[in-house]
Amino acid sequence: MRPFDYARIPPIYFGAGKLNRLPQLVKQFQGQIVLLVTGGTSLQHSGKLARVKNLLEQSGTTVHHVACDGEPTVSMIDGTVANHRTLAIDVVISIGGGSVVDAGKAISAMLPHDNSIIDHLEGVGRGIAHSGVKKPFIAVPTTSGTGSEVTKNAVISEVGVAGYKKSIRHDNFVPDGVIVDGELLTSCPRDVTAACALDAFTQLLEPFLSPKVSPLTEAIALSGLEAMQDSLLPACTTAAADVAVRERLAYASLLSGIALANDGLGIVHGLASPIGGFFPIPHGVVCATLVASSVRANLRALRQRAPTSAALKKLARVGALLVESSERSVEDPCDALVDVLDEWTTLLQIPKLSQHGIQGKDLEKILDLAENRNNPIELTRAEIRSLLEERL
Ligand SMILES: [Fe+2]
Repeated sequence: MRPFDYARIPPIYFGAGKLNRLPQLVKQFQGQIVLLVTGGTSLQHSGKLARVKNLLEQSGTTVHHVACDGEPTVSMIDGTVANHRTLAIDVVISIGGGSVVDAGKAISAMLPHDNSIIDHLEGVGRGIAHSGVKKPFIAVPTTSGTGSEVTKNAVISEVGVAGYKKSIRHDNFVPDGVIVDGELLTSCPRDVTAACALDAFTQLLEPFLSPKVSPLTEAIALSGLEAMQDSLLPACTTAAADVAVRERLAYASLLSGIALANDGLGIVHGLASPIGGFFPIPHGVVCATLVASSVRANLRALRQRAPTSAALKKLARVGALLVESSERSVEDPCDALVDVLDEWTTLLQIPKLSQHGIQGKDLEKILDLAENRNNPIELTRAEIRSLLEERL
């Protein structure tokens, strides 16, 4: 067996009702004063914010709350840290989608320090290594997509002509606890659920096909893909209020975070980073819109240039897994995989790139920054251009 290293996985509390463990978890870190990070307003409107605050306050915890709307930026993180540095925050808790988890992770990393987060952002800052000293951080995801609840990086975005999406990263930034409670997941709207779910699907498929994949990630990715097979469409359509279905999707998302953190990502995420930097388009939407065309491009390239590769056999395995409970007659499971992804893209009304302002003239600058790293085969610039054009 090939040797491999594996990153730390946080303690995970998974299932309906597990939110009630939050006060106990805070106490484990000697937390008296917490900073609760949430998104815009949906948690507030659903009454769940009040419930969480009550839960913490009843256990004698002082709660400060900050709402972070949109993907975290340098100014958002620096501003929040400056406003809370003197409040003796013991523990940071994020309850929200991937952006909220990333924001809380970054805030917990910067609270003990008085410099700007940009100093530590990979590739754009001053390249100063973070010491790893941070406040304890608990992640409570309310969407099933990024897997950020189990990873050691937080993505910070600046959108625009000189835009970027770059990470602050340290082994210590893996959250200190994760609570996945299905009851928090059912209010996630259909379009967000769909984009996040296809992002998580991509984060399972890409590490599974990665040339450096470990047997542990292969097992994790397959378990996630299996859970996704019967939960992705129902969670977006007929069973959106079904806690058990939402939890299967959340389980897949959690596993996708573990898989991507250890064995890397392919061309979809290699494109998501520059596209998300240049244009105000959510990460989940970029991945969702590109996954079918990218798998088609990979399949074509593998058949032409690596017809006996392990990656082709793996694509067939995933295809067979996705159609095993359907009535569909399958001649080639690889083609079936592409067909299922095309169907999901259409049925879930995933927006095209042009709906977020991307035009043909923008492709060159995206291609200049696209990364092929950990893709199962090196795609040519023309192949990547063509998969983008399919989704313009
Ligand atoms: Fe992703």
